[in-house]
Amino acid sequence: MNGHGESSGRTFVRFTASQRVEHFVNIFGFFGLCLTGIPQRFNGAAWADGMIQAMGGIDVVRGMHRTFGALLIVETAYHFVAMGYVLAVKKARWSMMPGLQDLRDAGQMIKYFLFLRKERARFDRYDFRQKVEYLALIWGTFLMIATGLAMWFPIETVTYLPGEIIPASKAAHGGEGLLAFASILLWHMYSAHLSPDVFPFDWTIFNGKITEERMHHEHPLELERLLAEEHTKAEAGNPTPTAASPKPEVEST
Ligand code: HEM
Repeated sequence: MNGHGESSGRTFVRFTASQRVEHFVNIFGFFGLCLTGIPQRFNGAAWADGMIQAMGGIDVVRGMHRTFGALLIVETAYHFVAMGYVLAVKKARWSMMPGLQDLRDAGQMIKYFLFLRKERARFDRYDFRQKVEYLALIWGTFLMIATGLAMWFPIETVTYLPGEIIPASKAAHGGEGLLAFASILLWHMYSAHLSPDVFPFDWTIFNGKITEERMHHEHPLELERLLAEEHTKAEAGNPTPTAASPKPEVEST
């Protein structure tokens, strides 16, 4: 319970096993890329050279960075295949896509934080902050992959593109790498650990579950839809099997 009223003991499945594994691979790959990329960015500084030596020297570090880079490319490709499948075959809602409602929600939350409005905005499966963070991740990953590949395969790159692309890629890759590191450290760590809604740790992306109280507080529109679907199924004489268990879980894709 997170201070949002009495606990009903009910949980909902928020993330599938595949989504949780993807998140884990992203943590592992991103951490490895920062560990092996940032000391290269600051080579010449005592701390960076110390880290490079501790990891086995510059050749080893470059090899490790490219291996982690390849892992990130595979994970990104998997993400788009999995997303395409869920959208095209399972006909899921495109719940991560921002729209005008997100702008309205942002305005309402600003008013709420300025005490000009009593109620928080009522969010669906993802709120506007989560959507912005996801889009930043997608955009940043594309940039890092494109500029990383340009530096990895310079001869092939300049066969098709002007030579300036290599130093430009180096500058963009180093700058975006630092930005990504800072944003994960500050923004993502706030939403995953320090936000009053989840402090001290949000386990949802690791165990896949979210309580009804949090759904009510953070995703009331999604909760209403899930309960309405459940009600419709029950009325049609087809109750969800989980509804009979003492702690039912409802999958929400
Ligand atoms: C979010 C992920 C990533 C971060 C944070 C990151 C970070 C960095 C940083 C800070 C540098 C040093 C740039 C400089 O010297 O100014 C670097 C270099 C490099 N990165 Fe990345 N990087 C990431 C992803 C990738 C990917 C996906 C690839 C491969 C496609 C890649 C390939 C390279 C290459 C080839 C270099 C040049 C050093 C070398 O020759 O090994 N990086 N990276």
